[in-house]
Amino acid sequence: MTPSPTFEGKRIILGVTGGIAAYKSAVLLRELQKSGAEVRCIMTPSALRFLGKDTLSALTRQPVPVDVFPDDADINESWSRHIQWAEWADLMLIAPCTANTLAKITHGLSDNMLTSTVLAARCPVVLSPTMDGGMYESPAMRMNRELAKELGYHLIEPEHGYLASGLEDKGRLPENKAILDYIAEVLKPASPSDQILTDKKVVVTAGPTREYLDPVRFLSNPSSGRMGIAMAVAARNMGAEVTLIHGKLADPVPGGIESVEIISADDLFEAVKSHHADTDIFIMAAAVSDFKPESRANSKVKKNGAAMQIPLLPTPDSLKWLGENRIEGQTLIGFAMETENLIEAARGKLERKKSDFIIANTIGQSGSGFESETNDVFLIGNSAEPAAFSGPKTEIAAQVLHTIFRNKLG
Ligand code: CTP
Repeated sequence: MTPSPTFEGKRIILGVTGGIAAYKSAVLLRELQKSGAEVRCIMTPSALRFLGKDTLSALTRQPVPVDVFPDDADINESWSRHIQWAEWADLMLIAPCTANTLAKITHGLSDNMLTSTVLAARCPVVLSPTMDGGMYESPAMRMNRELAKELGYHLIEPEHGYLASGLEDKGRLPENKAILDYIAEVLKPASPSDQILTDKKVVVTAGPTREYLDPVRFLSNPSSGRMGIAMAVAARNMGAEVTLIHGKLADPVPGGIESVEIISADDLFEAVKSHHADTDIFIMAAAVSDFKPESRANSKVKKNGAAMQIPLLPTPDSLKWLGENRIEGQTLIGFAMETENLIEAARGKLERKKSDFIIANTIGQSGSGFESETNDVFLIGNSAEPAAFSGPKTEIAAQVLHTIFRNKLG
């Protein structure tokens, strides 16, 4: 587990909207306070149906406004309360954020205290969309989510799991730790000496691919996507514009990173090709399945007691294609996970895939590999001796990018 972030001296407005996950907001508020933040809360009218205003008021020792028009005594101070609160905050977090509030925010509506304060805010605004059934993937929601990102709002991806309706789907409020880690990234100050990738467009691939053989079965691997996320965050912190092309991830996509979700190796290949022309740096951390079933059955394959053979076809190799179709000035960084002869095998991959660097690690050791938070890797380039890095994936990612780009660009 990474340590909990601290928000000492930070002023955060927690907006609560009317979804069932509002019952979790009181605990989220406590976690923010425990991390050192000074927190104020704003609720929407429908949030009041799920959580008592007095609960949040008692915990923050502050009034919890709902309506933009003051309902308390001191009119002079309260008429522009949404402006004063917006100016006060270092960050606004709306968790849970309903489809309705997200739609209002993306279209500039300001019909209550929360939406008015968001409109007036100059600080980062983080939205944690949380909804049930088909709502999250509905066409209107998808459009609003894209629009929200374009407008500069930070969106936390909801988790997949058991929802209030009884359905299993994507739409759950992430765990408090994931929300806190996310806002820590958004608040992280960038050091000017770190800004070595300003104006660079970076594509990172991460996580596993899935190759379905019928509607319920697929070939895949246990990649968590954490190394790819760490590379994307490091590149973002260095000033790059980052797109993360990813399969199912163990953690949400951090703020300030464009997310493109894919399922199969073929999808990944198409997404990589569509970004090819205007990308400066590709970091290929996805654990791509090398084979896919020759065909995909439309309905669940039934057993009949006999042995079964599944004919497999090779999948497209995105990194190899990038090496063969390289645009001048592009940098290609691949990964290699090996069980033996690490350096030799990685050098072979570097050559075969015409890449600039391979980040290689061994699988099977504890504290390293697929599902771990830490890693031991070697950076292998065309000239210098392999350089070793070890520690949390987030630190390795920053050190590796510094090593590559300080020398290459500097
Ligand atoms: N890769 C890719 N597309 C594939 C397979 C791999 O883009 N279809 C990329 C990976 O993201 C990684 C690098 O190529 O950056 C090496 O992946 P790896 O699975 O280690 O190598 P393979 O080419 O699959 O070789 P092998 O399985 O034979 O070791």
